[in-house]
Amino acid sequence: MVGGVQLEIFTHLAAGALTSAELAGRLDVHEDRLARLLYALAVTGLLDVLDGRFSNTPEAAGFLVKGQPQYIGGYMAEGMQSLVWRADLLTAESIRSGRPAALHDFTDTSDEEMAVMIRGMRDGSMKDGAALARRFDFSRCRSVVDVGGGSGGLVAALCQADPKLRGTLFDLPRTCRLAGPILRESPGGERIAVEPGDILAAPPKGTYDAAVLRSVVQVFGPADAASAIANAASAVRPGGAVYILAGVGILDDDRLGPADPVFRNVTLMNIYPAAAAYTESQHRAWLSQAGCGELERAALPITNTQVIRATKRAQSGRTGVPGPASKKNTGGVMP
Ligand SMILES: C[S@@+](CC[C@H](N)C(=O)[O-])C[C@H]1O[C@@H](n2cnc3c(N)ncnc32)[C@H](O)[C@@H]1O
Repeated sequence: MVGGVQLEIFTHLAAGALTSAELAGRLDVHEDRLARLLYALAVTGLLDVLDGRFSNTPEAAGFLVKGQPQYIGGYMAEGMQSLVWRADLLTAESIRSGRPAALHDFTDTSDEEMAVMIRGMRDGSMKDGAALARRFDFSRCRSVVDVGGGSGGLVAALCQADPKLRGTLFDLPRTCRLAGPILRESPGGERIAVEPGDILAAPPKGTYDAAVLRSVVQVFGPADAASAIANAASAVRPGGAVYILAGVGILDDDRLGPADPVFRNVTLMNIYPAAAAYTESQHRAWLSQAGCGELERAALPITNTQVIRATKRAQSGRTGVPGPASKKNTGGVMP
């Protein structure tokens, strides 16, 4: 499936069925090699084959064709899927050693690799931004900060959906630097200010109507997760909102479901020293400590991403949490 997405097989078949020779011609690849993959994809149920012509099954047409609303291929094409699968194969080693066997140490990662990762997540964050704007009422919101926003795709999509909105991408200095060119090519990106900073050390400088954290809480251990939420919330005015989008999902209290966070919890352990999937009760406690109440949990339309929205309480001041709880910042990336 990843090979098919990377070759854009499903996108090329969107307009109609093709023989392996016709498709090989369009992709400029060897037919004999391509045909093996096409038959494998047919057996998997992603392609149909009739009289030597291959076509997308409804599942492939919905999720693997570029430009479709539910397209999930950006994540695969940019290498994130391979990163996750490679990490999962090292699970036993991570448990034996007590360390993440597929460690992402961003001081050792090249800018190119980091940029590929941010780009790999952009598609999903833009879709979540558009879905967030549809699901929640932003009519009284004028400013929003995307904490640990990576590519800035989410806040750019929010701004694109609402012309009166002013957005800020807040992230580690290197991520901000790499996000610049990506933002320039993202719709809505031209309206985004960029503020480099460390959310474990200090809140963003301004005061905002809303703060958004997508796939950020999960890259921290519990103490750092609490600090990140407290610092993000302290940049929000009383009556404003904090949105936590749990990219890996929110664990049930019995830790037996849903499947996504249960399995991604294993992946996170293989990649980061302290990252984890968290339960709703844990989020609730951290948000409450951060001066937020009136929690609402929702699944976003189309993307199905789990969101917790909380309102900043009136009596809460701009407190923040000084200093990092952990020595090392992973700057992690994972949806
Ligand atoms: C999994 S990525 C999510 C990126 C983005 N929110 C998205 O969903 O596409 C985690 C992000 O958190 C950022 N990050 C990690 N530690 C941080 C810190 N201490 N302060 C600010 N950002 C941080 C990383 O640079 C990265 O962009």
